[in-house]
Amino acid sequence: MDPKLPPMCGIVGYVGPQSALEVVMAGLKRLEYRGYDSAGVAVLADGGLAAAKKAGKLLNLEKELDGKPLPTGTTGIGHTRWATHGGPTDSNAHPHIDNAGRVAVVHNGIIENFALLRFELEERGHELASETDTEVVAHLLAEEFSSCADLAEAMRLVCRRLEGAFTLVAVHADEPDVVVGARRNSPLVVGVGEGEAFLASDVAAFIAHTRSAIELGQDQVVELRRDGVTVTGFDGRPADVRSYHVDWDASAAEKGGYDYFMLKEIAEQPKAVADTLLGRIDGSGSMTLDEVRIPAGVLREIDKVVIVACGTAFHAGMIAKYAIEHWTRLPCEVELASEFRYRDPILDAQTLVIAISQSGETMDTLMALRHAREQGSKVLAICNTNGSTIPRESDAVLYTHAGPEVAVASTKAFLTQLVACYLVALYLGQVRGTKWGDEIRAVIRDLSSISGAVEQVLGTMEPVRELARTLASKNTVLFLGRHVGYPVALEGALKLKELAYMHAEGFAAGELKHGPIALIEEDLPVVVVVPSPRGRSVLHDKIVSNIQEIRARGARTIVIAEEGDEAVVPYADHLIRVPVTPTLLQPLVATVPLQVFACELATARGNEVDQPRNLAKSVTVE
Ligand code: F6R
Repeated sequence: MDPKLPPMCGIVGYVGPQSALEVVMAGLKRLEYRGYDSAGVAVLADGGLAAAKKAGKLLNLEKELDGKPLPTGTTGIGHTRWATHGGPTDSNAHPHIDNAGRVAVVHNGIIENFALLRFELEERGHELASETDTEVVAHLLAEEFSSCADLAEAMRLVCRRLEGAFTLVAVHADEPDVVVGARRNSPLVVGVGEGEAFLASDVAAFIAHTRSAIELGQDQVVELRRDGVTVTGFDGRPADVRSYHVDWDASAAEKGGYDYFMLKEIAEQPKAVADTLLGRIDGSGSMTLDEVRIPAGVLREIDKVVIVACGTAFHAGMIAKYAIEHWTRLPCEVELASEFRYRDPILDAQTLVIAISQSGETMDTLMALRHAREQGSKVLAICNTNGSTIPRESDAVLYTHAGPEVAVASTKAFLTQLVACYLVALYLGQVRGTKWGDEIRAVIRDLSSISGAVEQVLGTMEPVRELARTLASKNTVLFLGRHVGYPVALEGALKLKELAYMHAEGFAAGELKHGPIALIEEDLPVVVVVPSPRGRSVLHDKIVSNIQEIRARGARTIVIAEEGDEAVVPYADHLIRVPVTPTLLQPLVATVPLQVFACELATARGNEVDQPRNLAKSVTVE
């Protein structure tokens, strides 16, 4: 395995009265979105340790366990892996076990000095069976345990010798009622139940059992016993921890009758949008963003906004730029987090950096915000995952209330990121006095009606699904947009790439004539997101011309246009109507048909909608 490309992975640990295997397997099912290249479990039973692991999806492991059941035990750990180099083989799957077969460990992250540690272990006679960096930890834990007979202490000693980013969870057959975890950089949360405790990469793994959670900080080790949880630093000193209540229930992480999580999450968008506004508007229709703990005085001094994000969240940032610049007159840059710190960006205490992330764990975004804070900038996170690393390391956070997003392709998180961005833009306008109270209230009123508009769009999607099915054999689809429709076009193309594995590209429609128009050929599907004919109608007129230009060259035009926009009708081979919305808010409705389109095309092409190939939900590698 290339040590620079560690797996992202899902991790579960359990101690309590229930069958650990059942709890851990159910938890892994909830975490499979984090990686699905291999899976494995270990349980402590009958004074020993038993394990099973298998390349491929969790289903393969289930079949393996059906054929060769493990003994019943009440302490166990499990892992689902997103492999990189080296191939997802049985032997590279976690857990990894020491030579005596007493200690098992699962891992998410990278141990950068594993080669040296492995060499030293081999010198001391250990035999390592896999190509992973993780396996060294099992051997090191076994060595340390043999002298201290305390797994938590052994973990602390080992962690002090490890370099890199890692979350580790381990069990030892000599401590049958203990699970130990360690955290540096990758996520790990603790669930505290009645006489039982859980560890997982994400609360979804234990939400069916408890909604009481504890956030682990950097460089902390946690020891789980049935009767309690002890957290220390790697140095052994007791650590302060933050407990919180998970405010969604187990059904939020179930498919609820839908064939795919993605379909359910698309359908949940009206509620997600409404929930993200909840509590942020007072009785008089003004904004109350108390969570933004950056003092108003500091926000008044800001002279530039920089947004960092990846993928879909980056597209939300691109749209936010239009709103921020228009409503606050502050210059706003949007940058792919993975590019940000490498170009030596100009940042100072007058820069507000907004980091947008559904998972709160995206390594590129995390590194970008750390860089910004080192330069003295204030960082505001827009995030969907309570207690995750990005909000923890930011100066302030505005949570999106989308609920858990399980499908790898982001849908409801995107819409709620947009809502949060609009709120931040309005808040900046309010604090800095660039927007009057009645102007803010007018936008808030428009935002409050968006949930209903999204519902309306969802009710008219059957023709979009039918159209998608007719395009299943195409190789390429292009997407065009202008103004805020341009990032929507990029988002439509991204959804199609990741789900349908088709060549899809988004362009600013005005750029067409500078090159991309050469791609147009007979019957090439081109989706065009048309701005409202009201307000900035000059943009509308220009894009109608673009539609005519591509149609004249043979393109099959799929036009997304506002109700009542008659100018597009003669040039639309397929017309998708969206409700009338203010221009800046149009992405909230115009994106929805593109999500449905991509989902249906993926299904028609026989692809796995929730778990597209080569991807993982939470990208904790750079
Ligand atoms: C695409 C998608 C990804 C994520 C990106 C950032 O559907 O989901 O492009 O948007 O990996 O993830 P977060 O928002 O978790 O930082």
